[in-house]
Amino acid sequence: MFCSIMSGGLRGIESFPVSVETDISSGMPTFEMVGYVGGEVREAKDRVRTALANTGHPIPIAHITVNLSPGDVKKSGTGFDLPVALGVLTCMGQIDAESISDTFIAGELSLNGEVCPIKGILPMILMAKEKGIGKCIIPQANSKEGSFVEGVEVYGVSTLAEAISFLKKETDIVPVKSRLKSELLAGAVHEYDFAEVKGQAMARRGAQIAAAGLHNMIMTGPPGAGKTLIAKCIPSIMPPLSEEECLEVSAIYSVRGEFSDDTPLITRRPFVSAHSTSTDISLVGGGAVPRPGAVSLAHKGVLFLDEIPEFSRRALEALRQPLEDGKVHIIRNRDICTFPADFMLVAAMNPCPCGHYPDMNKCTCDEAKRARYMSKISGPFLDRMDICITAEKVSPFDLRSREASEGSEAIRERVMAAHEIQKKRFEGLGISFNSQMGNREIEKFCRLGSSEEELMKQLALKHDMSARTYFRVLKVARTIADLAGSADINEDALCEAVRLKVSF
Ligand SMILES: Nc1ncnc2c1ncn2[C@@H]1O[C@H](COP(=O)(O)OP(=O)(O)O)[C@@H](O)[C@H]1O
Ligand SMILES: [Mg+2]
Repeated sequence: MFCSIMSGGLRGIESFPVSVETDISSGMPTFEMVGYVGGEVREAKDRVRTALANTGHPIPIAHITVNLSPGDVKKSGTGFDLPVALGVLTCMGQIDAESISDTFIAGELSLNGEVCPIKGILPMILMAKEKGIGKCIIPQANSKEGSFVEGVEVYGVSTLAEAISFLKKETDIVPVKSRLKSELLAGAVHEYDFAEVKGQAMARRGAQIAAAGLHNMIMTGPPGAGKTLIAKCIPSIMPPLSEEECLEVSAIYSVRGEFSDDTPLITRRPFVSAHSTSTDISLVGGGAVPRPGAVSLAHKGVLFLDEIPEFSRRALEALRQPLEDGKVHIIRNRDICTFPADFMLVAAMNPCPCGHYPDMNKCTCDEAKRARYMSKISGPFLDRMDICITAEKVSPFDLRSREASEGSEAIRERVMAAHEIQKKRFEGLGISFNSQMGNREIEKFCRLGSSEEELMKQLALKHDMSARTYFRVLKVARTIADLAGSADINEDALCEAVRLKVSF
């Protein structure tokens, strides 16, 4: 007797369909798992055998073969336990084959027959929906996460016995309701708001321009100036996540197995702060079974690197490829696995090791020490930063000022208007933001009038700009003009863009 159940494997943050084929025939009593399976998948047979026995369904003494198809893609994870167990029961005639058709099934089994949560449920259910599947049976502990996909009935089960009696139509389970829209609305509230940030006019302005054109930004300034605070405020001035973005970002966290019933979904733009001791693997992802790193967890949001000179050169080098491509490729045993990593980089550093330069009354560093500190961030890294900001120490007068600073909501409206302009501009060109323009787009969209052209030439000579710096300045100037709703890049926009680039 043969049966086939649909389940799913993971590659990167995408799920692919896997047919769990089970066959029971007379012959040598064995239980074989085949189809390019990893060690933990092969162990499924022991969990399944025991879980079935402890649920009152001892498996027959017969020749059992389980094949996970397609056979040329490696499968890992523990999610195949439940479909294997239900496949065996179907072959034994205990479950009607009809009841498992058009059904996606995944879940890990414990020896006593409990169904345990697995990683990557969200991409699996998205895949099942795409394949036209109408019904999914998944672990109860993952059911909230699964419920965000609309148009599929998602049933959570906590034990193998419950799954069996549901398929036999002996008990009824209510499918979990999709709550995507209400969760997204609730997620629109932010923890940090620019209304809290006093003074720091340049940093506030820089953050706004950075968010408007998705430019990378670096801030320097003494400890306590508010660099970390400003970075944390940036997601609040970016547009709220769309439904599509929310599912895309959440799929990354789902694959990391980071969801619980309390946080079943990422509804806010991510803010990911990576520590200076981070290894290149924790930053960009990797490992024997590839896992997304900080750059992917920050997808569609902000990656914050504090104390940037303390990062290892190797770690910063590793950021180069994701910064350029917006994704990370990890090669493992013939397979390439791709994680999205389209983030805005915000970096911060003190101006010198003690943090007080240029306040010479307090600074204890000599010239050589300072130079060594600055040289830790390589030229190519600084080159990639479109916006470089010096945050001054905030005066006590500013800190105690009763005047409210402009809040994030008002800034966000301007940022979103600038995003709209860019969306129209880049329609059909495969990019969405000014920072992503290549030379061809710069040529087309950053045309200057003759006096502006002359000014730019002089500024370039004065600041000894490299070609790369020159083009970065033009891109930022384009964003400044967009924020002002201006079709042309005027002299003010150019001067501001230069100030923001050469202030270091
Ligand atoms: N410009 C500011 N406006 C309001 N509060 C500030 C400002 N700068 C610093 N603070 C307060 O000081 C704390 C430390 O600031 P932080 O952002 O960590 O500084 P930095 O990262 O520059 O060392 C913040 O949590 C905030 O309460
Ligand atoms: Mg800080």
